[in-house]
Amino acid sequence: MTHQTLQEAARARRSVYALNKTLPLPAEEVAAIVKHAVLHTPSAFNSQSTRVVVLFGAEHEKLWQLTEQALRQIVPADKFAPTAQKLAGFAAAAGTVLFFEDQSVVRGLQAQFPAYAANFPVWAEHADAMHQYAVWTTFAAAGIGANLQHYNPVIDAAVAEQWQIPADWTLRAQLVFGGIAAPAGEKQFAPVAERFKVYGL
Ligand SMILES: Cc1cc2nc3c(=O)[nH]c(=O)nc-3n(C[C@H](O)[C@H](O)[C@H](O)COP(=O)(O)O)c2cc1C
Repeated sequence: MTHQTLQEAARARRSVYALNKTLPLPAEEVAAIVKHAVLHTPSAFNSQSTRVVVLFGAEHEKLWQLTEQALRQIVPADKFAPTAQKLAGFAAAAGTVLFFEDQSVVRGLQAQFPAYAANFPVWAEHADAMHQYAVWTTFAAAGIGANLQHYNPVIDAAVAEQWQIPADWTLRAQLVFGGIAAPAGEKQFAPVAERFKVYGL
């Protein structure tokens, strides 16, 4: 392995919205990518508080039906068309990875290490984001397109009921994935000189 291999994957990872159901790998291998990230992504105090549910096919489509139902309760009917179009785009993809944080783990750490109590919820968010990035980047390396969504907390109750999610798991993000129907557009970069400093070179 060279570090350039990882850098190429990091560069290839983009928000891809034009997705289809034709994955370049068997679904089992896609699920194995996610499982690998769950095993090997770091977490504060090795707490392993992240929980992940992978939805394929009809289960994935159910998620976006439930999301539509939840959003219809809060978005005015005459303004729903763009939302419906967006949701149809997600449903057209092959699957969705749901990322959660297990609050029972966070509470356990707070009880065990009171001096860091305020940090554990923050670190849990960091760990969750690292899992999201690990899966998203590995998907990119595998030729799988993905985009990251945040319909939580609007969909939390429906998701919990549909997939028997434990009460302590809080939904943090939804990574929609699939075959790449059209690549991401050109990306704009803010000046890196304002965002990066180095001393002692
Ligand atoms: C923490 C975070 C939250 C994001 N939330 C959303 C989101 O809710 N919906 C969405 O379409 N994209 C979301 N994105 C994707 C960003 O808009 C995207 O990563 C950014 O514009 C850079 O484009 P790229 O992913 O193609 O590099 C999110 C990205 C991050 C890192």
